[in-house]
Amino acid sequence: MSLRIALFASGSGSNAENIIRSFLNDSKFEFPLIISNKKDAFVHERARKLDIPSFTFSREDFVKAEPILDILKEYQIDCIVLAGFLLKVPEVLIHAFPDKIINIHPALLPNYGGKGMYGHHVHEAVKASGDTESGITIHCVNSNYDEGNIIFQAKCPVLPTDTADLIAEKVHALEYDYFPKVIKNLWS
Ligand code: GAR
Repeated sequence: MSLRIALFASGSGSNAENIIRSFLNDSKFEFPLIISNKKDAFVHERARKLDIPSFTFSREDFVKAEPILDILKEYQIDCIVLAGFLLKVPEVLIHAFPDKIINIHPALLPNYGGKGMYGHHVHEAVKASGDTESGITIHCVNSNYDEGNIIFQAKCPVLPTDTADLIAEKVHALEYDYFPKVIKNLWS
């Protein structure tokens, strides 16, 4: 039996696409749908090209949770991967999928986490701090932003000359390399 994973993404969806492509030849993992909270997010375009259905739900739908639970049930989803998903995951969903929801954060938590710390804001903050390293954190999702148990971290150096864009590039490279591997290790 294969494991059916729903990908949640709010923006470009490059991680979602990379994950799907990484598992194309692995019949143990299926990615039957992508869920977004933004109807014009580029992830929908990627989904169309990959021939995977993608759906948009409003913030209100996420607060209610019922519409999300319904579609996850309809698609017989076992686990959820947040790949650049920026809304808070409702408590009901966390309880419906205990230890089955993971997130990637583009920095070394517990630093640079919490509300408002997402995407480019994180890299700007790292740059402003003068820190000499950044990286990625893959963690379980609980009801507080970025506070679930850490599953995996990887680091990259930050040079004084690095711009926030350059830090983002280094972090994305780590994400593309490790996120699929961590998913495989965790749920094989
Ligand atoms: C990724 O860098 C991911 O770590 C980050 O958003 C980016 C999405 O890129 N997630 C967060 O900031 C969550 N707090 P993508 O849409 O190209 O995959």
